[in-house]
Amino acid sequence: MREFPRLAASLKARGKRLFGKKSFWFTLPATVVNRYNYCMCKKTFPLSKKELEDVAKRFPTPFYLYDEKAIRKNARDIKAAFSCFEDFYEHFAVKALPNPHILKILKEEGFGADCSSLTELLLAENAGLRGDEVMFTSNETPSCEYKKAASMGAVINLDDITHIDFLEKKCGLPELLSFRYNPGDKKIGNAIIGSPLEAKYGLTFEQLIQAYKIAKDKGVKRFALHTMVASNELNAGYHIETGSLLFQTAAAIKERCGVVLEFINLGGGVGIPYKPEDKALDYNFLSSGLKKLFDSILVPAGLGSIKIRTEWGRTITGPYGYLVSRAIHKKDIYRKYIGLDASMADLMRPAIYGAYHHISVIGKENEPAEETYDVVGGLCENNDKFAIMRNLPRIHADEDDGDLIVIHDSGAHGRAMGFNYNGKLRAGELLLCEDGGIKVIRRKETAADYFATCDSTGFYL
Ligand SMILES: Cc1ncc(COP(=O)(O)O)c(C=O)c1O
Repeated sequence: MREFPRLAASLKARGKRLFGKKSFWFTLPATVVNRYNYCMCKKTFPLSKKELEDVAKRFPTPFYLYDEKAIRKNARDIKAAFSCFEDFYEHFAVKALPNPHILKILKEEGFGADCSSLTELLLAENAGLRGDEVMFTSNETPSCEYKKAASMGAVINLDDITHIDFLEKKCGLPELLSFRYNPGDKKIGNAIIGSPLEAKYGLTFEQLIQAYKIAKDKGVKRFALHTMVASNELNAGYHIETGSLLFQTAAAIKERCGVVLEFINLGGGVGIPYKPEDKALDYNFLSSGLKKLFDSILVPAGLGSIKIRTEWGRTITGPYGYLVSRAIHKKDIYRKYIGLDASMADLMRPAIYGAYHHISVIGKENEPAEETYDVVGGLCENNDKFAIMRNLPRIHADEDDGDLIVIHDSGAHGRAMGFNYNGKLRAGELLLCEDGGIKVIRRKETAADYFATCDSTGFYL
């Protein structure tokens, strides 16, 4: 806060108004700029056209390709940036890329998992994660899921005050309990996640205070605090402000409940530069901004022992995954269309959020973008479009030797959000291993997979 002394003073005054005399309440404006951003992002692909054609001969398109080397390097960069915090720990948000092979790679890099369902807990367990390496951040949770989380020793992060009784009744209260905070009007959400005031998640501030008191009275010994207020947010200032909010909340929890938190989980939401003109968030800028607030808020409050955790997904694997597809059809009506063998059933972000994903026509990266295309999939939905009116090099479309089209930044919330509408079978997943080899880490779906749940020998009939 030394860089923003006047701002700090006015926010502290605002804090006193909100929380009474002894509370700290600094809020950085959302407009605080991320001054030390990296340069603009050039979109690259780790294989040459020839190498990708060879892969596509062995594994028919469409498929996802993940770059192991780049995932590991990014994980190490994050750990280095956050080494200013003792025992910093990242719980990778499994929902972003729920593949056990990826979880194992991240485990080797020292990351745990953030799970939101029974299946995700099973995935984490399969990757060899358990105990407090796993955070269970769920909502509207059935008791069987809490039971599984409890049996693994995962940190249960409750989404509501009423869930204390529910958990106690269904599987007993654990020694360590976390609560998810919804800051309401104390924080502005962003486009994807929406305003906290309208978000279904978490406890209000007063409920939070009550929840720690109740849980403590019921014998819970250790506590944590969590929030998740943004998605795909590239402004480091925004995340620093979230840290500030949580640190002040931790101080208020100590003051009002006598509870010293064991850790604070800053949640997910770090953005990635989907557009070439976007700037990647600088991990070092983020960690040092958080550290300054940690030292100025938590340490004086006698809370310097609190550990910092995150549950990032998108920024961990997003930029290092690619959806590879072939241009199989071309049509020229009121607009020019390129039809791919992938569809929105493989990657729905462009269709549901209007999200930009950069597209490369492999081998033509340096050719002029002289055509304007809608790049589409084959669903009977007109929003099945990976790009609308996108300027691209002239594309050759043919089922056998059409251009290979790479859709960038698909390594998080990509295949994971896929579905089977129109009977589309979802793409498989390949790992570009550190040694340059290709490993199938999830095969493409087959018609048998599609029908498996109707099998008369199975559970469902
Ligand atoms: C509770 C929770 N934690 C973490 C994440 C991961 O967010 P991101 O991938 O934006 O980092 C999500 C994403 O939806 C989430 O809902």
